[in-house]
Amino acid sequence: MRLLVCSDVHANATALEAALQACAGLWERAVCLGDVVGYGPDPNEVVERIRSLVSAIVRGNHDKAVSGISDLEDFNPVARAAVEWTRSQLFPENLRYLQSLPRGPVDIDGFAFVHGAVEDEDEYIFAADQALPGLLESRRPVTFFGHTHIQGGFSYDGARVERVELSLMPGASFAAVNVEPKKRYLLNPGSVGQPRDSDPRAAFAIADIEKRRVEFWRVPYDIAAVQDRMEQAGAPEALVLRLAFGR
Ligand SMILES: [Fe+2]
Repeated sequence: MRLLVCSDVHANATALEAALQACAGLWERAVCLGDVVGYGPDPNEVVERIRSLVSAIVRGNHDKAVSGISDLEDFNPVARAAVEWTRSQLFPENLRYLQSLPRGPVDIDGFAFVHGAVEDEDEYIFAADQALPGLLESRRPVTFFGHTHIQGGFSYDGARVERVELSLMPGASFAAVNVEPKKRYLLNPGSVGQPRDSDPRAAFAIADIEKRRVEFWRVPYDIAAVQDRMEQAGAPEALVLRLAFGR
């Protein structure tokens, strides 16, 4: 069984389609870690695509804000503008779908899935000390998380937390990490639609359960086409520009 794990698509249909095309036929089930919408120009298209694609999904903070489950207090002005624009665009049925998304953790195929941290869906895990509680508390040895838009994650061997190092060879589509039986992991597939780890390519992961291996993929897509649609929609310039830098 191979599981496609995608997160933080953020209404970027071009990145999502490029990612799906690159790994077509290489997975049997798909999971989404939330933030289906927000920032990008294609909220309806992406909601409908994700809905038809996934076996399991958890909600992200943007999904909650857009669908009125949470307020906009924690959002900066740029993110707030994106939420309000997205809300104005979404068809009622797609808004209802976002409202219906469950809070993590969701368990499937022996893994756990969350948007932010294991105990708090809105918390960011950037550093080892932030990762430790989730590594200790998760119901599963391997938990996938999103929210930071940074591909990689953390492992714990019972003594210390280490960052999962990804070495993507030039020209390769993915870096593979072997999941060791005695370790616990928090793994982040990265963001499909708005990467923030200095690599602007769409990011996602494929977990091979039998081989105990996770592939961390990067796929180029037509960023300029997405930027054009964002400009037409009147998106803040900072949001348009950041796609090209992956920051
Ligand atoms: Fe996000």
